[in-house]
Amino acid sequence: MDVRSSVGGRSRPGGGVGAGTSHGVLLLNSNGMDFVYTGDRITYKVIGGVLDLYFFPGPSPEAVMNQYTELIGRPTPMPYWSFGFHQCRYGYKTVADLEGVVAGYAKANIPLEVMWTDIDYMDAYKDFTLDPINFPVEKMKEFVSSLHKNSKKYVLILDPGISVNETYGTYIRGMQADIFIKREGAPYLGRVWPGPVYFPDFLHPSSESYWGGEIKRFHDVLPFDGLWIDMNELSNFNDPQPLPSTLDNPPYKMNNAGVHRPINNKTIPATSLHFGNISEYNAHNLYGLLEAKATNEALVNVTGKRPFILSRSTFVSSGKHTAHWTGDNAATWDDLAYSIPAILNSGLFGIPMVGADICGFTQDTSEELCNRWIQLGAFYPFARDHSNKGTIRQELYLWESVAASARVVLGLCYRLLPYLYTLMYEANRRGIPIARPLFFSFPEDTMTYNINSQFLIGKGLMVTPVLKSGAQTVDAYFPSGNWFDLFNYSNSVSTASGMNVMLNAPPDHPHLHVREGNILAMQGEAMTTEAARRTPFKLLVVVDGHGNSTGQVFLDDGDDVEMGGEGNKWTLVKFYCEKTGNGVVVRSEVVNGEFALIEKWVIDKVTILGLRKGTRMTRLRGHELPNDVEATSGQRTVKTMGKSSDGGEFAIAEVSELSLPLGKTFKLEVKVKVRQS
Ligand code: GLC
Repeated sequence: MDVRSSVGGRSRPGGGVGAGTSHGVLLLNSNGMDFVYTGDRITYKVIGGVLDLYFFPGPSPEAVMNQYTELIGRPTPMPYWSFGFHQCRYGYKTVADLEGVVAGYAKANIPLEVMWTDIDYMDAYKDFTLDPINFPVEKMKEFVSSLHKNSKKYVLILDPGISVNETYGTYIRGMQADIFIKREGAPYLGRVWPGPVYFPDFLHPSSESYWGGEIKRFHDVLPFDGLWIDMNELSNFNDPQPLPSTLDNPPYKMNNAGVHRPINNKTIPATSLHFGNISEYNAHNLYGLLEAKATNEALVNVTGKRPFILSRSTFVSSGKHTAHWTGDNAATWDDLAYSIPAILNSGLFGIPMVGADICGFTQDTSEELCNRWIQLGAFYPFARDHSNKGTIRQELYLWESVAASARVVLGLCYRLLPYLYTLMYEANRRGIPIARPLFFSFPEDTMTYNINSQFLIGKGLMVTPVLKSGAQTVDAYFPSGNWFDLFNYSNSVSTASGMNVMLNAPPDHPHLHVREGNILAMQGEAMTTEAARRTPFKLLVVVDGHGNSTGQVFLDDGDDVEMGGEGNKWTLVKFYCEKTGNGVVVRSEVVNGEFALIEKWVIDKVTILGLRKGTRMTRLRGHELPNDVEATSGQRTVKTMGKSSDGGEFAIAEVSELSLPLGKTFKLEVKVKVRQS
């Protein structure tokens, strides 16, 4: 899927030539292909299947995503907790090691939401087993139960290869169900972590009951909260010998892992067969998708809750079932930078819940790199620190500078949880990515088209990370408007038509800016998402030049299978700020307010940015509608005057000690008087 914006010269369906219009193109084909882009054209070199080409007319990037995901399926909602911080490593040695990591985070006051285990927990790398020495079942149960008592979660890995072992239940049941992918009439023998393996065929009609059955058995032993499905390309440590057939040795050699390697390189042979005699040649690219689908269904059946699944392999419509990480990156500055286009692409493909391994997977990380990586990675939709066996440890508390950054950026990330979760809702409804390229909000600004060192979270929150070793500054592009530093509202950048700015970026200074026109619904900082959900809401209203802005918040249980489905177990609140004669009115519209009332959510503070210097708040009225009851007078302050980059000055107007029930509409009238200086 390819989404692009263009300015001028391109015709827009429905007539006319549009500036800043976008369209999308999808070639829906599961065969091997090379995709060559040379600036003004794309060449698809496809080695089989049907050429189904879809065009999405846009004309906005958001419309393209809406049209594309209407066809392929909307991104599945992710549980609220999955927006917290995750810690993983290949090479955790024992349960005590895991406990030490959880304790390390607690001691350093860094929020840790989810603890993961890689294949280390398994007995000889067999799925659905526990190493009896280092991860014995009783100790693991206690560990998971203590995570749960502390409102934390536990996710474990599963690989598709099932160890060929006559004493292993999962293998025996697989053979009984005749579930494995075959070649020349017998299950195809590959080799992965456990040694010799067979691979379940997710095209087999019994695969969901087989896989789901194994997941249920294991969940009955150890109540994990999510599943990580890896190696599902399919990955094979063997290079299968080709049979004398064109499928194993097609005349056109695709680019395979960077060079023109044989088609069977490090995977299962193209001549292996799925149920119904479907060849691997045709179905290869669907494996991860089908495994994610079966895993998702299994988790819904077993837990009755919204599943969290992380898959390495994806295909068109994987976003309907799973989150994604960008695979084995390296602890290098290049891979830090590359993580941005990688996560943005995933969003465009319809998989908005995505992240890269924070601090880098292979190679030893460094304090400086890890510091910059968490400053960026905290704002990946999916934020997980993960590293390879044999590399140095890289939990965020291990260096004081990294721990300090983590507290700052994860602190902000947790305050932004309602905003992030609402973006998940928008993704689920209309397919719009959570993390977006700059051109999504500024399709008419051609300067944004090539930017892959910055990105937006939602419509108007811009992340500008440091991506270079030794850098004390970072070059940022600001599209038109007033932008406010989320870590210090007194700092702002103003530009009429977009400009480059060099920002000071010492190691303890990450950069996030919110643009005029946005209302962010935030909550308080906390060590878990559960605790953060219980804190009062704070609205950050960033008015534009006309005194207007908008925003919304969606809230539900956070783990109902549906997001905003039938029934009233959710609330949607839309916020508006409008200019009045001598002030602004901040008001809300509420859909299904009852849920928010039961949860007793209140707004206790409204901060307004973007009003000009000299602002004095002279009158303040809050009232609930429709009863027109005076809610509270609150406290008003007009704080520090900040200097903006154009020399103008903005006021930071704060109304605190409010208690406006989120589930009821409110109207807050703020009269302002500008003092003549
Ligand atoms: C693969 C995964 C990596 C994991 C490792 C061991 O390389 O991509 O994340 O740690 O396998 O399971």
